[in-house]
Amino acid sequence: MKKKKRIGILTGGGDCPGINAVIRAVAKKAINEKDMEVIGIEDGYHGVVNDRYRKLEYSDVSGILTLGGTILGTSKTANPYRYAVKKGSKLGFQDLSQKTIRNIKKLDLTCLVCIGGDGTLGIAYRLFKDGIPIIGLPKTIDNDLRGTDITFGFDSAVSIAAEGIDRIHTTAESLHRIMIVEVMGHKAGWIALYSGVAGGGDIILIPEIPYDMNIITEKVKERNKKGKRFSIVVIAEGAKPKGGDIVIQRIVKESSDPIRLGGIGFVLGEQIEKITGLETRTVVMGHLLRGGSPTPFDRILATGLGSKAVDMIEDKKFGYMVGVKRNSLVAAPLKEVAKGPKVVPLNHPMIKAARSLGTCFGD
Ligand code: F6P
Repeated sequence: MKKKKRIGILTGGGDCPGINAVIRAVAKKAINEKDMEVIGIEDGYHGVVNDRYRKLEYSDVSGILTLGGTILGTSKTANPYRYAVKKGSKLGFQDLSQKTIRNIKKLDLTCLVCIGGDGTLGIAYRLFKDGIPIIGLPKTIDNDLRGTDITFGFDSAVSIAAEGIDRIHTTAESLHRIMIVEVMGHKAGWIALYSGVAGGGDIILIPEIPYDMNIITEKVKERNKKGKRFSIVVIAEGAKPKGGDIVIQRIVKESSDPIRLGGIGFVLGEQIEKITGLETRTVVMGHLLRGGSPTPFDRILATGLGSKAVDMIEDKKFGYMVGVKRNSLVAAPLKEVAKGPKVVPLNHPMIKAARSLGTCFGD
């Protein structure tokens, strides 16, 4: 009897709507159409470092299309090349890549499908260079991955953020307040830009455009003078004032990307209130943007990406991520993806369009 091809799937980094939809697409097509065996690696790279995995049957990936999170578990800290090891209260790091590579080889995988953002896919690229056949899939609410126009999870995060902004409008208008909505987006302001535009934000602040307090408060005052006695500010967690700094919420020492942001909205709110005398409140949406069911757009995107990944496995197109360019599915080299985040270009058409409508970007 011909030996079945076997593939592995792992999910790394933060959870994000659509991960289960993409796991389902890869596994169902691999089992159903290609008669492959599918191994689910548990908790991201922890699973390959510590041999934690399980076989995924068709029934395991059935009924998970709309489910949030990841059925495989994930990790934002596990990195085989810099694996955090605690001895008592002391934290150290070990290079466990050789052990990891041995573990993966033992599994006899035709391909390891790595679902993640720039951190996960950066590690995937290193494993590929070390001889592991890898295909990546673009997961992140932040939409900040090179090699693709869009990542799954982004549309879901934008729609949750936009709904939040819509709801905030009620209080802003009724009580004549300045309301600030802080959304995720560490280095890139895609969520703030898109949800800000979708929610009709008056001021949108993103990491790519350091803001000037005077311009923000002038905008608020000008709106008040015109009879608009409220303003909505949408700010990315990674935004910062000109010449100033980001607001760090915590440092996760175990992580290769240890800085966690949050709270810039409160800093901004206090300053706006002090300067304008207008009551200003802040809401931080944070992890709400990562939770729950993916939008239909993300389900469709995840299904297409997952199906294409299996075709690429058949074609032995390893060392690539499935991406989207001009509405078509493409193979993007992991080398390109691993170069760092894709930030919002300052001449992005959406920034231009919003500016032309009078939206302030704090500059
Ligand atoms: O990368 C996704 C992301 O949601 C970022 O926007 C955010 O900065 C970070 O994860 C938050 O991570 P954590 O879940 O560790 O707080």
